[in-house]
Amino acid sequence: MANTVIIGSQWGDEGKGKIVDMLSSGSDVIVRFQGGNNAGHTIKVNGHQTILHTIPSGILHPGKLCLVGNGVVLDPFVFLQEVDELSAQSVDVSPSRLGISPKTHLILPYHRAIDIARETMKKGKKIGTTGRGIGPCYEDKAARIGLRCGDLRNPDLVRSKIRTALQEKNVLFANLYHCDVMDPDTVADEILGIADRMTPYLRDVSEAIQDAVKSGKIVLWEGAQGVHLDIDHGTYPYVTSSNTVAGYASTGSGIGPDRITRTVGIVKAYTTRVGSGPFPTELEDETGKFLQENGHEFGATTGRPRRCGWLDAVVIRETARLCGLTDIALTKVDVLRGLPTLKICVDYEYKGERIAYPPQGENALADVKPIYEELPGFSEDITGCRAFAALPATVQKYIKRIEALTGVKVSIVSVGADREETIER
Ligand code: GDP
Ligand code: IMO
Ligand code: MG
Repeated sequence: MANTVIIGSQWGDEGKGKIVDMLSSGSDVIVRFQGGNNAGHTIKVNGHQTILHTIPSGILHPGKLCLVGNGVVLDPFVFLQEVDELSAQSVDVSPSRLGISPKTHLILPYHRAIDIARETMKKGKKIGTTGRGIGPCYEDKAARIGLRCGDLRNPDLVRSKIRTALQEKNVLFANLYHCDVMDPDTVADEILGIADRMTPYLRDVSEAIQDAVKSGKIVLWEGAQGVHLDIDHGTYPYVTSSNTVAGYASTGSGIGPDRITRTVGIVKAYTTRVGSGPFPTELEDETGKFLQENGHEFGATTGRPRRCGWLDAVVIRETARLCGLTDIALTKVDVLRGLPTLKICVDYEYKGERIAYPPQGENALADVKPIYEELPGFSEDITGCRAFAALPATVQKYIKRIEALTGVKVSIVSVGADREETIER
């Protein structure tokens, strides 16, 4: 096994949770390196479903070390709720196998309030955020006024940081968002009330990864969201507030990029997107509805219906370039069953020209026209297939075409939500 980064290749919800869980069996350490509880990662084992928002998807494998890196923004209340839920299912979530970097920034109630107030004010131009306070927390990090997990050891520092942060924010609450102001001591009391439960989890994540690599252990980095939601490389401004590309695994967990030896892009066999923003292959017809219903495309975090469309090879090609994909894990192939033809967007038409990569101007993706290729569909139930050769010829052809269009090998094919419903090539 290689030290592997898993990233979402599209706009999120590709099935990262499932593949991380599956690859965790051959790994020793699993690390989240960006995003927060805007993520909803689903794992299904023997029919039992678990959705994780902050804790790495390796947690269901006993004995694996799960780490939350400095690049993550962590809602401590959501984290503890997850700890309690897993604990109730007899999953070991003790600090011996779950750690948080002291440098990880904390999402506080005022981040959530700003996120929601801003979106409410935007009316027609909403980003459609998850409302979890992700953007405002990253803003405080960049503004150098954020509260970090390690600060929980120092109550005076917590109080003074929250006081500073609220000085500015309360002006906005009172005069711009017209909502309730927040009392700094009340917010501080609330967070300090859980400090004793949080501080045992503090661990030097960078050191833990270095020690693991040195002793020949295998590390798996779990990306959240998708590359086209990346703050720099995504469909700005309709993006999240962190870097979702593979390179951020290094920055967001504190290791040198040379430690990463494999980068797997999770690709859903079609495309989905939640929230606003351009989506060239979106289907607002019966086929779109078919994908949504058959694929149960409703948000794992917010429950919102996901927009659905054909697979877009241009989007994957750009992900391969931005992340240096070594291979692809193709998920939800089974969902396509029953469609008479399958379309793949192979290139775009943009300002009268045929282009192979997305145009770079702001919101330019809204002006491209997908150029499609049609392939035959399939009617067979493939959820029982456990070898590539067992897949119908039409499915094999679809997969091989994806490889040819992206230049990346499909090494894993997922044919169902359950851990076992997977083909490794
Ligand atoms: P993530 O955010 O990338 O981890 O993905 P989500 O968990 O938000 O969404 C993926 C959904 O698809 C979840 O409900 C998974 O259980 C489900 N899923 C994953 N792989 C497959 C697959 O191969 N087939 C089917 N039918 N469902 C899958
Ligand atoms: P996982 O890890 C799908 C989207 C939101 C919105 C935009 C910004 O489960 O794949 P934010 O709350 O991050 O400021 O919202 O990003 N978004 C996701 N879409 N899957 C996710 O995570 C997402 N996390 C954020 O819908 O459009
Ligand atoms: Mg998700």
